Amino acid sequence: MAAVLPRLAVDLLQPLAGTSAEIWLEIGFGGGEHLVWQALHHPGITLIGCEPFEDGVVKVLSAIDEQGLGNIRLRADDCRPLLRALPEASIARAFVLFPDPWPKRKHVKRRLVSGALLDQLAHVMTAGAELRLATDIGDYARTMLIALMAHPSFRWTAEGPTDWRERPADWPPTRYEAKAIREGRPCNFFRFVRV
Ligand SMILES: C[S@@+](CC[C@H](N)C(=O)[O-])C[C@H]1O[C@@H](n2cnc3c(N)ncnc32)[C@H](O)[C@@H]1O
Repeated sequence: MAAVLPRLAVDLLQPLAGTSAEIWLEIGFGGGEHLVWQALHHPGITLIGCEPFEDGVVKVLSAIDEQGLGNIRLRADDCRPLLRALPEASIARAFVLFPDPWPKRKHVKRRLVSGALLDQLAHVMTAGAELRLATDIGDYARTMLIALMAHPSFRWTAEGPTDWRERPADWPPTRYEAKAIREGRPCNFFRFVRV
């Protein structure tokens, strides 16, 4: 954290300092498997990863150091101040994969994906940008879809059930997804476009 993070931490006063033309954002990257995979497979893209969980940040810092990755920037904190700081229409793709499920009814209001988050994402995403979301919780999938379908800035790209039941090839599995599959929960993969 002390040696590598300061060199690639996102500064909220100049969040895009030193980044390339196209920027993708992953919110809540957990162990960072997906973030690191995307960075390795898209060296021309800058990926901003945002995650308050310190062990996850350390894992990504180790991968950056060991694999010499130069296209990841990190914000080791809640995504909402970052979303407020990012310029309008600056993000070409955003990922929110398996956000914390908060399955108990009394905790549902803690869920990250809501109309308020979608407003922030709509502001920072470019027209035509893709928003990818995943969840293994049926009730969360339902509330995600209701919020997204009601939002004027997002359009669902799915044409049939395989489009949300099967993960596309350029979308690697995460640790959380592997756990969901082991425990018998089917996963949903949603792709929306910022219109
Ligand atoms: C269930 S885990 C999934 C992690 C990873 N995306 C995966 O699929 O393995 C949800 C992650 O979201 C992070 N998280 C929760 N609230 C967040 C917020 N407000 N901003 C950024 N990350 C958040 C948590 O720390 C946690 O690592």
